[in-house]
Amino acid sequence: MSQTIQAVLDSVRTKLRAADIESFSIDAQLIVSEALGVDKIKLVTHNTDEISDDKLNIIKEYTARRLKREPMQYILGRCEFMGLDFKVDRNTLIPRADTENLVEEAINIIKEKGYRNVLDIGTGSGAIAVSIGKYTAAEVTAVDISKAALSIAEENARQNNVYVNFIESDLFANVKGSFDMIVSNPPYIERAVIDTLDSQVKDHEPLSALDGGEDGLDFYRRITADLHRFLKKKGCIIFEIGYNQGYALYDMLVKNNFRNISVKKDLAGMDRVVTGYIS
Ligand SMILES: C[S@@+](CC[C@H](N)C(=O)[O-])C[C@H]1O[C@@H](n2cnc3c(N)ncnc32)[C@H](O)[C@@H]1O
Repeated sequence: MSQTIQAVLDSVRTKLRAADIESFSIDAQLIVSEALGVDKIKLVTHNTDEISDDKLNIIKEYTARRLKREPMQYILGRCEFMGLDFKVDRNTLIPRADTENLVEEAINIIKEKGYRNVLDIGTGSGAIAVSIGKYTAAEVTAVDISKAALSIAEENARQNNVYVNFIESDLFANVKGSFDMIVSNPPYIERAVIDTLDSQVKDHEPLSALDGGEDGLDFYRRITADLHRFLKKKGCIIFEIGYNQGYALYDMLVKNNFRNISVKKDLAGMDRVVTGYIS
């Protein structure tokens, strides 16, 4: 029996709400509008239109995925970051609004210092690399250990008309040359904490994008140890960090002879971005 847009919307909303999905109302709208290929306004203005069986099946599939707490961004296959559209799938971390702090700071420094080239380590969807390429004149190179993530990142660069030199690499292993700035949002979650994360993160996002080792600092240690080989004179390292990692990163950069080190907070008042320079 055919059903109207309104009836289907109500039914999806009820199912998501019963499963304690906080964003049940907006998610229901997104699911139905995506399946029908119409914008959300049309769900209101055409709410008595009937939905065909094939579209109903798509709505059922999306709803079932959301009930398993798959993030909406993976169901839609896209998300927004720095005002740009990015494709995402289960091989790429979903770019976070917090990471816009890192990108904004990086862009300001690149412009202020007239930096010409930047390396992004652990690029994932390419969110950081593509945004820097879009909003500055710097040449951008980006690496990731995941071939699958890199192929999504390449699509994102193409889709946003940005050139990024993508390299499959375990950190610096396949990187040649030196850079004015190295930027990274590496995996930084303490291993024991991963199990306590929301199912949307721990059961759906790639573990290789989250796991920062026992104390969460493994990647910072490995990257920092090689920075002097890959940063140009007066170059800058800029890391995204976890809310409780400010002191550890400050200390690590001091011990590695960086200067003008600063730890910046995000809008929630949490340590989020650390920068340091070499002489
Ligand atoms: C926290 S995610 C960041 C993704 C993206 N830069 C962002 O900010 O949304 C970390 C990324 O590091 C990559 N990664 C993990 N281990 C790596 C390694 N040894 N070498 C290069 N990249 C690595 C993961 O595949 C993942 O894409």
